[in-house]
Amino acid sequence: MANTNWTSANIPDQTGKNILITGANSGLGFHAAMALSGKGANVIMAVRSLEKGKAAAAQIKTMYPNAKLDIMQLDLSDMDSIKHFSEAFHAKYKSLNVLMNNAGVMAIPKKETTRQGFEMQFGTNHLGHFALTGLLLDLIKKTPDARVTTQSSGLHKGIDAIQFDDINWEKSYTKWKAYAQSKLANLLFTYELDRQFKAHKINAVATVAHPGFAETNLQRYSGFVVKYLANKILAQSAQMGSLPIVRAATDKNAKGGEYYGPTKMGEMRGYPELVKSNEASYNTLAAKQLWEVSEKLTGIHYDF
Ligand SMILES: NC(=O)c1ccc[n+]([C@@H]2O[C@H](COP(=O)([O-])OP(=O)(O)OC[C@H]3O[C@@H](n4cnc5c(N)ncnc54)[C@H](OP(=O)(O)O)[C@@H]3O)[C@@H](O)[C@H]2O)c1
Repeated sequence: MANTNWTSANIPDQTGKNILITGANSGLGFHAAMALSGKGANVIMAVRSLEKGKAAAAQIKTMYPNAKLDIMQLDLSDMDSIKHFSEAFHAKYKSLNVLMNNAGVMAIPKKETTRQGFEMQFGTNHLGHFALTGLLLDLIKKTPDARVTTQSSGLHKGIDAIQFDDINWEKSYTKWKAYAQSKLANLLFTYELDRQFKAHKINAVATVAHPGFAETNLQRYSGFVVKYLANKILAQSAQMGSLPIVRAATDKNAKGGEYYGPTKMGEMRGYPELVKSNEASYNTLAAKQLWEVSEKLTGIHYDF
């Protein structure tokens, strides 16, 4: 049952847990790392810039001097980097309690591609996390009560289907639709992953969240109005925006397949509660098709 005004004070003790957060140096990932450090977790900060990661870790240490932080390099827009990361992670860790698939890019003005040629938002936000999760699945499977929690967005509602006939936006590119597709993919992925955990009787759940509208570096491509005005007037703080994913990852009452986000002002602000995603995200056939396409594109096959 969802309760209101869930805050970081509600996070249960995380001592002894390995929590991996992508994009932990900035915005929502940073605040999630901060909150979970305050509850004793061993936080693995997966960052594409080690310099930025070190600076973020130093900031967390000023608040929590005993924070257990491990900074590891990961570029989700490069399959080789994801594979190297997975190897390095396996060499250090024998369990993974929470995988927080948080990193993302939004509304890149002119189409860009990942190292392997995928449209940047779909490639980073969805395919990168799909590959990462698949490569860490063995650790997730052997960790009791593991969770995979992914950051989506209310903006997934900007599209009502994955466009399978042009998934990488080769025929035409619309920055907001490409972002919406990547965030719809995050939801379809989570719901299918949770169904697969259940079907294979794996002691793990997949949950998903959205932060509402939070002031972070994400809006750097959004133009003056969003970046400066909307961020200052409408947005909630990055700390508030981090609460839904932290709740989805740690609330003992959260169940597999649940989606958490704020509910005030058209889901832009507020404390995390259970919310509903669009109809397209619950389409099980589309989820299976996306899964097959994602395995084919990334070359990562899930061994349930
Ligand atoms: N802020 C909002 O209102 C809002 C709304 C809905 C959804 N979201 C979602 O929330 C998530 C976090 O975004 P944020 O708002 O916290 O923005 P942010 O401050 O820009 O943080 C994004 C993080 O992702 C990292 N990242 C980007 N590309 C990467 C790559 N190729 N490999 C590894 N890491 C990469 C960034 O690293 P660098 O610092 O090196 O760039 C940064 O750490 C995203 O998935 C976003 O779609 C945010």
